[in-house]
Amino acid sequence: MGTKGKHNVGSEIQSPYIKTEKEIDLMEKAARIVAETLVLLGKYIKSGITTAELDTIAEDYIRSKGAKPAFKGYKVDGRAYPNTLCISIDEEVVHGLPGARKLEEGQIVSIDCGSELKGYFGDSAISYPVGKVNELKQKLLRVTEESLMKGIEHAVERNKIYDISRAVQTFVESNGFNVTRELVGHGIGKHLHEEPPVPNFVPPLLHRSQYPNVKLQNGMALAIEPMVHAGGKSIKTARDGWTVLTADKSPAAHFEHTIVINGDKPIILTLRD
Ligand code: MF3
Ligand code: CO
Repeated sequence: MGTKGKHNVGSEIQSPYIKTEKEIDLMEKAARIVAETLVLLGKYIKSGITTAELDTIAEDYIRSKGAKPAFKGYKVDGRAYPNTLCISIDEEVVHGLPGARKLEEGQIVSIDCGSELKGYFGDSAISYPVGKVNELKQKLLRVTEESLMKGIEHAVERNKIYDISRAVQTFVESNGFNVTRELVGHGIGKHLHEEPPVPNFVPPLLHRSQYPNVKLQNGMALAIEPMVHAGGKSIKTARDGWTVLTADKSPAAHFEHTIVINGDKPIILTLRD
């Protein structure tokens, strides 16, 4: 993890995106709980465990640390998300609902987790293999995680949001895969989702106003979260109204970190050790 540089000293225009040192300290605590939860869950990823069991393990751990699950009750289009985790298997991209389904050997399982501590949020995701997975899935896990790291490398002072987007997209597409277009990363802090959006692709000209190409400044906190399909770009929503699937049923992976812009060395708040 990088060291925290001084930021904002002497700057006259206070961007609404910039967090103070004190806010970043609180976010770091929330984020660490998320990272620890994902590591803990890794020990339980085996065929036979249900996704509801994983959800309970995560909720109990988060609450044992005095934090709250950030997703539970979080409203999307007026509907409250019912669980602590989003657990998405194989062709499920994100927002899979925990339940009675059991993990099976050969699957890849994406786990997305958020926590809230003292009014501040952390958000992170990881995709795990269940036992031994085929070569395509192995490559997908590697490329997706590496695309997140490429995005983070470009999350430096004086760059802009699209520099992150371009780094992720270029790496993913050069490996023959595609990023999800309909869902994007986001600012984070006192809310799970804040401005600015962080697309994993450079928006086509007509869509640029939807995704302002904000200049990155020290103290900005972002959740960068590439969602990658081994097949085509298109997605659909399952009948449960939450689960996002690849339209062609190709496997998908998802990795996410909460980071803070800090000169040329972003601080990864959700780093797992
Ligand atoms: N990390 C996801 C996101 O940033 C999790 C949100 S799921 C929700 O969108 F249902 F709780 F919103
Ligand atoms: Co997120």
